[in-house]
Amino acid sequence: MKNVAIFASGSGTNAENIARYFSKSETVKVAVVLSNNKNVGVHARVNNLGIPSFVFSREEFVEGTPVLAKLAEYQADLIVLAGFMNKISDALLKAYPGKIINIHPALLPKHGGKGMYGMHVHEAVVAAGDKESGITIHYINENYDEGDIIFQAKCEVLPTDSPDAVATKVHKLEYAHYPHVIEEVLKKI
Ligand code: GAR
Repeated sequence: MKNVAIFASGSGTNAENIARYFSKSETVKVAVVLSNNKNVGVHARVNNLGIPSFVFSREEFVEGTPVLAKLAEYQADLIVLAGFMNKISDALLKAYPGKIINIHPALLPKHGGKGMYGMHVHEAVVAAGDKESGITIHYINENYDEGDIIFQAKCEVLPTDSPDAVATKVHKLEYAHYPHVIEEVLKKI
């Protein structure tokens, strides 16, 4: 059995979707969810599925030791970021080389970097008049949104689309593809 640890900071719809996808798997288990915020939806979403979740402060994520201890306790093979809004520490990168992946709600290298997360990304896509957006699943390295790209999928952006409308299209792509990509990445670990 391969164990996945999900890091999430918000509502957690992707975390729930991934957890549901693997709930009947005999080879992959979402073992634990870690968050930097105790007041967010992800906890109830995954706890309802029997998956434990824990909260660490920004300082603990930066320093790394307590987070690493929790990951070791749950024998994490892969760290999956699903709407996680903190930078990943050097300690974590060192401990899990090539084993931390992220989903970004746009077509990197467009609309990435510091401050580009969640609705900010969809607002930027609409403001730029882009005709398409999508998702990028990539490995994490020391720079925001710059690790090697594993997978991208596109959706059309109409001139009449609001940022909310783009977000809905992008979420659909996230739900359809992220679990499958995680499965493929795990086969190589
Ligand atoms: C997702 O759209 C994810 O791609 C994005 O945050 C949202 C989280 O939604 N991540 C980033 O912007 C990271 N830079 P969720 O909490 O409902 O899964």
